[in-house]
Amino acid sequence: MSTLETTTETETEEVEQEREETPGDRRRELKRERAAERERRVEAELDDAENTRRLKVFRYDPEVEGKEEPRFDDFVVPYHKGMTILDALIYARDQYDSSLTFRHSCRQAVCGSDALFVNGRQRLGCKTQLGDLDDPIRIEPLPHQEVVKDLVVDMQHFYDQMHAVEPYFDPDDLPEGELAEQRQTPENREYVKMATRCIWCGACMSSCNIAAGDNEYLGPAAINKAYRFAMDEREGEDRKQERLRIIEQEHGVWRCQTQFSCTEVCPKDIPLTEHIQELKRESVKNNLKFW
Ligand code: SF4
Ligand code: FES
Repeated sequence: MSTLETTTETETEEVEQEREETPGDRRRELKRERAAERERRVEAELDDAENTRRLKVFRYDPEVEGKEEPRFDDFVVPYHKGMTILDALIYARDQYDSSLTFRHSCRQAVCGSDALFVNGRQRLGCKTQLGDLDDPIRIEPLPHQEVVKDLVVDMQHFYDQMHAVEPYFDPDDLPEGELAEQRQTPENREYVKMATRCIWCGACMSSCNIAAGDNEYLGPAAINKAYRFAMDEREGEDRKQERLRIIEQEHGVWRCQTQFSCTEVCPKDIPLTEHIQELKRESVKNNLKFW
């Protein structure tokens, strides 16, 4: 081998080394190191867990080519006692696929944003224990709602129905003085107590066959909201009449076929079917005429 050839090879290697050190190459190297580190962490956690659970998660993204067709992705997550569906989804997103999309906020069954369809039933992700479910755990968006992306559904129709019953307190009289309390009897408070617990999660509406077939049906959550105010004695008789007029409409309480699916899935244990029945009775009483 000639000296000239040796020099040329050395120069070529130097040039290549220099090329390897471009900012782009450094970024790629850093990315590789981070991915390897993440893999090591995942393996350590999987080794450390009591056991692992397999998630089958619904995926769909209308804006990305190749992902417009719904599919299920598998994720294996470490199981620790007390872990919820939401914890498992957060783990899957953080460790495996940052594009996995779902809603959550409070993580304590208060905001209502993470209602999902898990193993064939509407549930709150943050309230549902992984340990209570059969493997593999199938996680889907709420049925009967348009899917925006992965586990996120469009809640606009649900909100529209809720707003249709005018869900705000509207008393006949205001107490004297700006800071005076608007008092309610303990008995009346007890009467409406359960109805006030709604967190607008939409699970009940999604479980209702009637709502699935009739887009105009007010639905259990909205009727429960109407109940909460119609039964509040502080609103007075006139306001109650107006509220009954709203729930008596063609797509109101009389559409309910007492299937109890809403009551079964409500994460706040609101006796929705009972409230709907009660409003039906109020409606009948309201329309009775004595000649
Ligand atoms: S009534 Fe229950 S299931 Fe329906 S929106 Fe309210 S909290 Fe959710
Ligand atoms: S995250 Fe708020 S209800 Fe589950």
